[in-house]
Amino acid sequence: MISRDTIEEIRNRIDIIDVISDFLTLKKSGQNYKALSPFSNEKTPSFFVVPSKGIFKDFSSGKGGDAISFVMEHEKMNYSEALRYLAKKYGVEIKEDRLTDEGKAEQSEREGLYILMNFAKEYYRKQLTGSEEGISIGLSYFRERGFNDRTIEKFELGYALAGWENFSNEAISKGYNKELLEKTGLVVKKEDGGTYDRFRGRVIFPVHNISGKVIAFGARMLGKDKNQPKYINSPETDIYHKSDVLYGLYQGKNAIRQHDVCYLVEGYTDVISLHQSDVPNVVASSGTALTEHQIKIIRRFTENITVLFDGDSAGIKAALRGIDMILKGGMNVRVVLFPDGEDPDSYSRKVGTSEFQKFLKDHTQDFVSFKAGLYASEAAGDPIRKAESIKEIISSISQIPDPVKRSVYIQETSQLLKIGEPVLLTELNKILIQERRKTDKEKSRERPEELTPLELIENTATGSKLDVQSMVQLQERETIRLLLNYADEAIDEQKLTDFIMQELDDVTFTNPVYHQIYDAFRKGVLEGHIPDSGSFLTGNSIQEVKNAVTELITSRYDTSKYWSDKFHIYFPKENEIVTELALSNVLRLKFRVVQKMMEENLLKVKEAENIGNWDKLDEALIAQTGLKDAEHELAKLLGIVVAK
Ligand code: CTP
Ligand code: MN
Repeated sequence: MISRDTIEEIRNRIDIIDVISDFLTLKKSGQNYKALSPFSNEKTPSFFVVPSKGIFKDFSSGKGGDAISFVMEHEKMNYSEALRYLAKKYGVEIKEDRLTDEGKAEQSEREGLYILMNFAKEYYRKQLTGSEEGISIGLSYFRERGFNDRTIEKFELGYALAGWENFSNEAISKGYNKELLEKTGLVVKKEDGGTYDRFRGRVIFPVHNISGKVIAFGARMLGKDKNQPKYINSPETDIYHKSDVLYGLYQGKNAIRQHDVCYLVEGYTDVISLHQSDVPNVVASSGTALTEHQIKIIRRFTENITVLFDGDSAGIKAALRGIDMILKGGMNVRVVLFPDGEDPDSYSRKVGTSEFQKFLKDHTQDFVSFKAGLYASEAAGDPIRKAESIKEIISSISQIPDPVKRSVYIQETSQLLKIGEPVLLTELNKILIQERRKTDKEKSRERPEELTPLELIENTATGSKLDVQSMVQLQERETIRLLLNYADEAIDEQKLTDFIMQELDDVTFTNPVYHQIYDAFRKGVLEGHIPDSGSFLTGNSIQEVKNAVTELITSRYDTSKYWSDKFHIYFPKENEIVTELALSNVLRLKFRVVQKMMEENLLKVKEAENIGNWDKLDEALIAQTGLKDAEHELAKLLGIVVAK
């Protein structure tokens, strides 16, 4: 029981932005902050933090609350665990109402597991540097691998003595009970009821959760014995779910956020060697195939993953498997292949820090050129192989959820393989349709209401795309028509002119004639008199302005009469619905302007892609995401279904 005073003290010191930033990448949005929801697999941020109120709200899952409840939700802690975590973070000393005598037995089981794992970690560390066996066998092995003291400390590496019961005896003498020892997996029960230590005569790699608590161990054998597994790992427990854990994330998370890229490697030693080469933004999935959940976890820190793998066939296979999953998770994926027989660990030690960093820089390629390169030698001069390699690449591209990114990669593939974009798009759309049919079938079985429209990339080569610029001008024309005809109508207790000026404050008219008329209205509003439409016809307006105004003040919608005659439906007259007209006009104009900006930004994306400027590419893709959000927002307001 943590005392009331302590809780009060913790609450006083908490800064919700600071707390949440340890887990998510927050972006400022006005007074507030937003991020991708950690509780769902979303592509656009719906997770908000309101610092002035000290609360967060996650619209995709409905979760919300203060900093403490965030830690509870996110770290799957109970109230007291979350308080203890925050007390540690803010240096608050915990005073308890009741003494911990009843202690260990009363503590929740999970807390007990954490405590025992921490005890074990400290024990193994002590053996590594404080026992003869540890020093001569364990420490000398780490030295051989080139690990320095700082590294050994940073990763809290240890050594488990060779005997059968060294650890169990120590733990029991310190008062830990047998049952808990078995639950951690540190001790294994035999059929005859006896027990023995799981890790013996091995070096120890503790696995930390995101907040730095030890939740598992990997234990590597020394030397070569074909009858023993190279690694023995902790079994799954209440605090360790293998598929949710990334080795190195705790030590690397800040660097991942700073560098905005996460290197993905195979194992413990790769992570550690990269740290020693000053590349701390790295994690490993530790011997298992990367999982969807692990990708989601990385995505909280960056959208860019670079896969580092062995150049041998097993490494390539693993890289290929990872690529599609990462793409599917909406992330950008790049690949670095090491020379045959080398992995990140061996290679970094071989060439040294600066050479290694240069190698990473020079050999990072996107997945399209990686895949194209794999098949290039086989495919040369063999049309069937070439077709296969195209299918391979397109199938990866089809995993990407964002159509803008898909189209960029299609372009690159086209250039790289010297195949026309239309051919590739046809191939891509074929896959997308197949995939959609599959998921639709599954969905219609479970939740028929969730069928979503297919997002195909339009084939620009056939010219079927709508001309955004004309759409913009059409709406500009409508704005001018409303201004000319209904300038004084009341909308929301203000004049239509004021309403429009306010709404379109940041919009610049593209058509020069409409621009001129709009400007006259703007000036008029500033000077306190709204121009009369007639004034454009006399005065010294240019002929084009006169023509436009003439056309616009005489043009009326006749549809209402047509519809009421034909279908006997009553339509309100135009000035009765001028409010709706003005509102939908400003929304439509903004909607089209945003679409135009997206088109222009897409050119930047393509250019950056062409010259291989990744920073610029990322910047443009982020801008595109922002515009897309705006587009969707406006579309929602308008009730339009957006095609892409
Ligand atoms: N691994 C495992 N169990 C094994 C073998 C490997 O869990 N029996 C996992 C470990 O997470 C390890 C990773 O796969 O870190 C990579 O394996 P490997 O490269 O064979 O391990 P290293 O210790 O790097 O071996 P080596 O010194 O031969 O490079
Ligand atoms: Mn290795």
